[in-house]
Amino acid sequence: MQIPIAQPSLGSEEAEAVTAVLDSGMIAQGPETAAFENEFAAYCGVPHAVAVNSGTAALHAALLAAGVGPGDEVIVPAFTFFATASSVSMCGAVPIFADVERATATVDPTDVNAKITSRTKAVVGVHLYGQPCDAGALREICDDNNLVFIEDAAQAHGGEYHGQRTGSLGDLACFSFYATKNMATGEGGMVTTASDEYKVHLRRIINHGQADKYLHTELGYNYRMTDLAAAVGRVQLKKLDGFNRRRQENAEYYRTHITAPGLVLPAVAPGRTHVWHQYSLRVTDAFPLSRDDLMAHLRKHGIGCAVHYPVALSSQPLYAGAGACPISEALAASVLSIPVHPNVTNEGRTYICDTINEVI
Ligand SMILES: Cc1ncc(COP(=O)(O)O)c(C=O)c1O
Repeated sequence: MQIPIAQPSLGSEEAEAVTAVLDSGMIAQGPETAAFENEFAAYCGVPHAVAVNSGTAALHAALLAAGVGPGDEVIVPAFTFFATASSVSMCGAVPIFADVERATATVDPTDVNAKITSRTKAVVGVHLYGQPCDAGALREICDDNNLVFIEDAAQAHGGEYHGQRTGSLGDLACFSFYATKNMATGEGGMVTTASDEYKVHLRRIINHGQADKYLHTELGYNYRMTDLAAAVGRVQLKKLDGFNRRRQENAEYYRTHITAPGLVLPAVAPGRTHVWHQYSLRVTDAFPLSRDDLMAHLRKHGIGCAVHYPVALSSQPLYAGAGACPISEALAASVLSIPVHPNVTNEGRTYICDTINEVI
């Protein structure tokens, strides 16, 4: 059996939607993107959504809209994908790394608080692996210190924090529709916000800083989404809740069927609805194989697996000199993601559990 670690779920509806856009002749930004923005905003429960062409563009644009620039610091978790920090650097600002909580791998609000200085402008909370971070605590810290709270929701479309959807928890929130994400357009992204002012500014930032036709009032970028991507996104959004339910079923199956001692299964904090972008377990010294040997063993049996992420951002060469984040470093050395996506069948997940449990 071959089970990839990730696989987009695309069908004839997406193909038909793309064909309709091709037939219309309007393949750049047009009515599909506007409709996708409206539908995505409604899904998240926020007034505005601005479509862009990647999650990285979403983060860069959101940080610029928040006024982040040279001389500023932005606190980000040390355990996340590189773009959470590199987007801060793209603004000419400095990412300051906060450590994460061991149980959820999401940012530790206490460490965020400890890293605030007079230069801090914003905090980015990442909903890592599909589990919302402690947005309530981060909201309070940001309100107390006059900071902008930005969600990196690239991995958590449809996740909830105490019944409130990701995308509606921060001042701005950033999504990715990269091919492996819970909903995918190949490349793509979205910024959501409740603020009219941020929305207007975002629209300029993603379109060459253009305030009026060929009138450029600030430095901007071409971060526009195409109608081809938006057409796929609209279909994927309709399927998102179904995809997430299957991810949750697969995760629940793993929780009850991976029994090998020495593996720590992922925890869900109270009040959070996890949408399982990744099912990442921790391989401890009590397990007979090292993390890397378990990965090799699973791959030998046709089971795709991956390490998200093998190097804490505070240990990346680009950020040499950033302080230590011991929990992030420990997670980087011990986590292993196994397939949890909607295309994992009942037989597939049984095979995965058996292959892991048989190591003992
Ligand atoms: C947490 C996180 N932030 C940002 C990004 C960047 O998104 P994209 O790859 O669409 O630029 C990703 C995607 O991999 C991600 O997982």
